Amino acid sequence: MLQDFTDVQLINPTCDLHSEFIDLVAEYQKTGEYRLFDQNFLTLIQENFAAYIQYLEDNSKGIDLKPGFVPATTFWLVMQSKVILGESRLRHWLVPTLEHRGGHIGYMIRPLQKGKGYGTKILSMTLEKARNMGLSRVLLTCNQDNLASARVIQKNQGKLTSEGLLENSDKIISRYWIDL
Ligand SMILES: CC(C)(COP(=O)(O)OP(=O)(O)OC[C@H]1O[C@@H](n2cnc3c(N)ncnc32)[C@H](O)[C@@H]1OP(=O)(O)O)[C@@H](O)C(=O)NCCC(=O)NCCS
Repeated sequence: MLQDFTDVQLINPTCDLHSEFIDLVAEYQKTGEYRLFDQNFLTLIQENFAAYIQYLEDNSKGIDLKPGFVPATTFWLVMQSKVILGESRLRHWLVPTLEHRGGHIGYMIRPLQKGKGYGTKILSMTLEKARNMGLSRVLLTCNQDNLASARVIQKNQGKLTSEGLLENSDKIISRYWIDL
C-alpha cells in the first residue's frame, strides 16, 4: 500500500508532547528495546521534562557539550502534530569517533510504527535539514547486520564506501555517504 505522509512533519522537540513522549518510552519498555535510552536521560525525562528539552536545545547550540562531542540537533517525526513516530539526530560535523561509528545522522522509529516507511521518511527529512544547514554530503553508519537501517540508507541514495570491524567488537560496521 502506498504510504500517505501528508500529515507527517519533522519538528524540534517540544514540552507540548510530554505525555506522548512518556507513552513512547513505555512502548520501548514493553517491547524490550529499552536499552536505546540512557538511564540518566530516562530519569530526567520522567522527573523534569522541560530540563530534558532544554538539554536537547543546548546540545544543538553546542552549549555544555561533553568533551569530544559535537553539536547535534534532535528532531521528532510526528503525525498530526501529536503522535511521535520516531527521532533523528543530526551531528553538525564529524570527529574521528563519528567517522568510525555514528556518522552525521542517527535515527529510530518507535517499535509499533516500524515497517511502514517512516524510517525511510525520517532520514529523507533529516537530509533536507542537513542540506539547509549547508552540508554538501553526509556520512551514515550502521551495523552490517542491521538490514532495516541499511535499506533505509540505500533508499536514500547512500553509497557504501567502507566496511570494517567495529572497535572492541566482532561486529562489522558499514559506512555510506550521501551527496546532498
Ligand atoms: C532502522 C529503523 C529506523 C527502520 O525503520 P522502519 O520504519 O521500519 O523502516 P522502513 O519502514 O522505512 O523500511 C525501510 C526498508 O527496510 C526494510 N526492512 C524493514 N525492517 C526490516 C528487517 N527487519 N529486515 C530487513 N529489511 C527490513 C523494509 O522492507 C524497507 O525496504 P523496502 O522498501 O525495500 O521493502 C528501525 O528499525 C529502528 O528504529 N531500528 C532501531 C534503531 C536503529 O537501528 N537505528 C539505525 C541506527 S544505524
